[in-house]
Amino acid sequence: MNYKEAIEGELFDYLAKLVREKNLETYVIGGFVRDFILKRRKETKDIDIVTVGSGIDLALQLSKELPGTPKVQVFKTYGTAMLQYKNTEIEFVGARKESYVEESRNPIVEKGSLEDDQCRRDFTINALAISLNPDNYGALIDPFNGMEDLKNKIIRTPLDPAITYADDPLRMLRAIRFSTQLNFTIEKSSLEAISQQASRIDIISKERIVTELHKILGAEKPSIGFKLLADTGLLERILPELIALKGVEEEQGQRHKDNFYHTLQVVDNIAEKTDNIWLRWTALLHDIGKARTKRFDPKIGWTFHNHEFVGSKMVYKIFKRLKMPLNDKMKYVQKLVLLSSRPVVLSEDVTDSAVRRLIFDAGDDIEDLMTHCEADITTRNKKKLKKYLENFKLVREKIADVEARDHVRNFQPPISGELIMQTFDLKPGREIGKIKEVIKEAILEGEIQNDFDQAYALMVKTGEELGLTLSATSK
Ligand code: CTP
Repeated sequence: MNYKEAIEGELFDYLAKLVREKNLETYVIGGFVRDFILKRRKETKDIDIVTVGSGIDLALQLSKELPGTPKVQVFKTYGTAMLQYKNTEIEFVGARKESYVEESRNPIVEKGSLEDDQCRRDFTINALAISLNPDNYGALIDPFNGMEDLKNKIIRTPLDPAITYADDPLRMLRAIRFSTQLNFTIEKSSLEAISQQASRIDIISKERIVTELHKILGAEKPSIGFKLLADTGLLERILPELIALKGVEEEQGQRHKDNFYHTLQVVDNIAEKTDNIWLRWTALLHDIGKARTKRFDPKIGWTFHNHEFVGSKMVYKIFKRLKMPLNDKMKYVQKLVLLSSRPVVLSEDVTDSAVRRLIFDAGDDIEDLMTHCEADITTRNKKKLKKYLENFKLVREKIADVEARDHVRNFQPPISGELIMQTFDLKPGREIGKIKEVIKEAILEGEIQNDFDQAYALMVKTGEELGLTLSATSK
């Protein structure tokens, strides 16, 4: 089969000319070929080039030929190089036989043939190569039946899976990630090897693990990946807090739901609504505090008192352990986990002041919070589902209504601390905070409107109640 059309365009023309003139045996390999055949090519392309010889030299030579002589980044330890041309990142590697040393990711690299190189790749569907050489330009080189596996939607390793995963344990996550993204099945012996070697994921850096987690979570149906992670024992090592949600207990004939499978359903639901990866993290972690807070009370049944608060604290610990940045994204997830039950409580009794408080606490994330809460409804009972969705519709309407009137989103106090100090001739002190709090509470309770005049009047009244006297200029 010929795949000339995959390698059309300026960049490949330059590369092919160089290969021809310098007689360098070179191929395009990996994800680019796979995605071309699957018709899954994205806008910006990542291209992997393998050459029988030095990848670094090839990159340097190509850069000289290309308009603008793009800069080459050389990774000497790995024998690879990278250059960016227009929107495309091109990675160059010399074909190699490699074996990895236990407990370390640093391979011992030996030069090899194309087939040696294809052997050491992760999956048959990623070992497909297209020739850039003049004698068979565009030919597909597929020694492991990767095409067959693409057709049958199977993830299979070129070698014995025990060897492929031992070479680089990250591949266990990659197998599950590709299975989730492409909706492919991981072949049985591969899945068994993953279960056997799961503990070796511990030698992989957190950053590489998180990259794969993000890709699983970013897929159309993330639950596929999380179920596989749980079944193979990988999740226990990466996010044991999720495994702790597994199982159903029964006391006095009362059962609670399995919070692990519920969580996965919520993640799939949210994935249908949004690509916001942090909202997807929220869905994944929203019930994380339930394992620790679970109690059985003979009078009311199963309770998970305060699980949102416990859960939001756990978000920090999880992000920290996974070396994810502890920035505003983490705070966003924490905040939404903390607030995740508020709209539900609200929907049973929608008062203006409760809605106002929710808007005050959620700020600009109120819509995301509502999207999460709707995704959190996983009942199979049609009547209940209809009722919950209607209640949430009501809450949304009420939010729009209250917000239009009271503007408490991103609340700015109508009376500043300086004005309070001026009005009562005060130096900085506790009274100022007290007065501000009374005004804020009155606005949230709906006792006064969120405007200057009403807030000013309340400030004067509260100051007097605290025994303060108006300054001469304020009388
Ligand atoms: N590869 C490998 N083992 C790894 C990582 C990568 O064998 N642990 C090989 C595969 O042949 C892969 C290629 O290197 O196709 C490029 O890797 P990468 O860019 O990470 O993945 P892609 O397959 O291009 O897929 P994606 O862009 O979706 O990550």
